[in-house]
Amino acid sequence: MRIVLVGFMGVGKTSIGKVLSKRLNLDFFDTDIEIEKEYGSIENIFESFGEDYFRNLETKVLNSIIKKDNLVISTGGGVVIRNSDVLKELEKVVFLDSNVENIYNNIKNDTKKRPLLKDCDIKEKIETLLNKRYNLYESVSNIKIKAENKTVDEISEEIILKLGVI
Ligand code: S3P
Repeated sequence: MRIVLVGFMGVGKTSIGKVLSKRLNLDFFDTDIEIEKEYGSIENIFESFGEDYFRNLETKVLNSIIKKDNLVISTGGGVVIRNSDVLKELEKVVFLDSNVENIYNNIKNDTKKRPLLKDCDIKEKIETLLNKRYNLYESVSNIKIKAENKTVDEISEEIILKLGVI
């Protein structure tokens, strides 16, 4: 089994992925963590080589992880930009959906690994990017879960029920 979590920055993909993988006894991978392990900090990659270069690394890492089985994969919020075709082929892609206010509150003090939110009006940028990407998240996913005002455990349980994987 292979479960992939997609959604905007700050919706909780990493924390939920960790809990979900434990509950289902699956391995856990996070595309951002894999990128940082192999290529250094996301902040530095963006600063030294730019977003396009980061997207290349992200695509490369995703393609190597999804070859594996029995795992939960948390993805970076922009993974859908380049990889919607690959994601559409998978059977258990979960869109974690949250509103701008909630996302803003989750990440306003945590922009270090999110260079796209540097030197700008964070809330406005979240709104613009979320609008741009929303259809992509919907089109690659098999189920959508509302992530605001719920605990990580509650969301994990909802994913399990909706996917029917226990
Ligand atoms: C990005 C999201 C980040 C990280 C990078 C780019 C994006 O991951 O991959 O800063 O374009 O939405 P999170 O979704 O874990 O914040």
